This record gives sequence, C-alpha cells and structure tokens, in this order.
Amino acid sequence: MKLMNGVEMPNIGFGTWQIEPKDAKASCMMAVKHGYKMIDTAESYGNEEECVSGIDTKDVFIVTKLPAQYKTYDEAVIHFNESLKKLGRIDLYLIHAPWPWNEQGKDCMEGNIMVWKAFCDLYKAGKVGAIGVSNFHPDEMDMLYKATGVMPMVNQIRYFIGNRQIDTYNYCIKNNIAIMAYSPLATSELLESEEVKKMAVKYNKTPAQICIRYCIDTNTIPVVKSTKEERIKANLDVDFKLDDEDIKYLNSLKPQASTRPYRS
Ligand SMILES: NC(=O)c1ccc[n+]([C@@H]2O[C@H](COP(=O)([O-])OP(=O)(O)OC[C@H]3O[C@@H](n4cnc5c(N)ncnc54)[C@H](OP(=O)(O)O)[C@@H]3O)[C@@H](O)[C@H]2O)c1
Repeated sequence: MKLMNGVEMPNIGFGTWQIEPKDAKASCMMAVKHGYKMIDTAESYGNEEECVSGIDTKDVFIVTKLPAQYKTYDEAVIHFNESLKKLGRIDLYLIHAPWPWNEQGKDCMEGNIMVWKAFCDLYKAGKVGAIGVSNFHPDEMDMLYKATGVMPMVNQIRYFIGNRQIDTYNYCIKNNIAIMAYSPLATSELLESEEVKKMAVKYNKTPAQICIRYCIDTNTIPVVKSTKEERIKANLDVDFKLDDEDIKYLNSLKPQASTRPYRS
C-alpha cells in the first residue's frame, strides 16, 4: 500500500495490544520470523521497547501512537521522542484517539490541532516517515486539515465484518487516507459468527483468515494480534481472494460482535 506521501507500507500488520511486556519480545520475534513486515504498538501498551528488542527492525515498518490523553504541542514532541528512543525508528506515528479513553466524546479538537501541528513539524523535520490518526471521524480529520493544510496519511479504525464505519471509510478512500483495520477479528468475537464460519468452509480457510482477507479485499490494512505461533503463522497465510459476491454479502452483514465502548 502506497501512502499519499509515497511511503510504502505493508498490507498486513502484527498487533501488540494486550501483549504483556514480558511476552512482547517473543511474540514479535515469532511474527517477524513468519514474515510480518509491520509491528503496531503504542506508548500506552507499555511494550514498545520489548516489541523491537529481539528483532532487526531494518525491514520492519514500525507504528506507534501518542497516548490519547496528551493534547498539547509540547507533550506530543516529548512523548514522540520517548517512543523514538525505545523503538529506534518510527515509520508511522498516530494520535491514538481524539479524546482521552476515560472521556470519550469530549471535544478536544483544539488540543488535537496543537498535537497535529507538532506531528507536522516532526514529519517536516524528517523524524518520522508518516503521520496519521486513529479512531477519528471525518469532521475531526477535516478540522486537522483546515488548521494545517495537512491531511492525516493514515486513519487506524476499528474495522471488521459487520463493523465497517462506512462514513469514515468513504471519507478516507475519497481523501486517499490509508485505512488500518484494527481488531479485524473483533478481538476474536467474530470467529464465532455462523456467517464467517460458513464462508471459511466455502474457501477451505479458517474463520480468522476470512476476516483478515475481508479487510485486505476491501482496501484496508488489517492489524491482527496473537501470541500463539500457529495462529501468528496462519493469520499471514491469506494469499487468496474473496469473490465480489461474497464481499457484497459480508458487507451486508449487521454488527454481530462486541458492543464494547470503542468508537465504531
Ligand atoms: N488504535 C486503537 O485504538 C486500537 C484498538 C485496539 C486494537 N488496536 C490494534 O489492533 C490489533 C489487533 O486488534 P485486537 O488485539 O483487538 O484483536 P484481533 O486481532 O481482532 O484479535 C485478537 C484475538 O484473537 C485471537 N486470535 C488471533 N488469531 C487467531 C486465530 N487464528 N484463531 C483463533 N483466535 C485467534 C487472539 O488470541 P491469542 O493471542 O491467544 O492467539 C486474540 O484474543 C491490536 O493488537 C492493536 O495493535 C488498535
């Protein structure tokens, strides 16, 4: 996937949310060993250092995020530099969410604009390969653009079968913003879906592979997490394509999983 600034990004990422620091090194080593070329971490996962400690990051695209509670220019720069120290290089830096997680829905746009100005300066100074947001809606991305003339290059959103965030999805496609699909398995809940299971039988694949392929075939970049070697390996074995008819059918499904309090 080529970003709007020409930077190339792998079309599938390894997620590390809820991987304890003590397990992050082994999981990321397994992921890289089996061919993942992107690791998605965040300061708030508390595992940045461990994610890269066992791997040669030369050929791995490193994504991390500014914790959602920091909404000033200076905090953005300070925390970017702390993450950079731990990771060695940052290919993509994201604002984790438009509001602190414990104050969802709060209007923090003035702060987000200050943070976005810091991100633009870090990018212009060549300290990071690409910049973007996570969990942002179209009006919020619009405001960043109007204030700085710079669109987010990526929006990482909660996206899976039955949870397409169609307004945000369409806005990103229209504006050439790459969509990273987080929780492509709905944090595993989607694996119990009867529709997904039937599709897996049809393609002779696992439900997880259907969910991951769905993201790829709808032009998003799935970020999938596992700590189990067999699953890590199988989740990358998605070299097949869903038929247009099946994509249409999966697109028509209603939310089947999780009403967790994330933005959906
Ligand atoms: N930007 C944001 O706000 C945000 C929010 C949430 C997530 N994310 C990112 O997106 C990544 C993925 O999302 P996620 O962690 O919510 O969930 P996910 O990737 O949708 O699902 C992971 C869950 O499914 C299980 N699993 C994985 N592969 C499997 C397989 N082949 N068969 C059966 N079970 C399988 C995992 O268990 P095991 O580990 O036991 O295998 C884990 O419980 C995160 O790690 C993080 O990097 C970003």
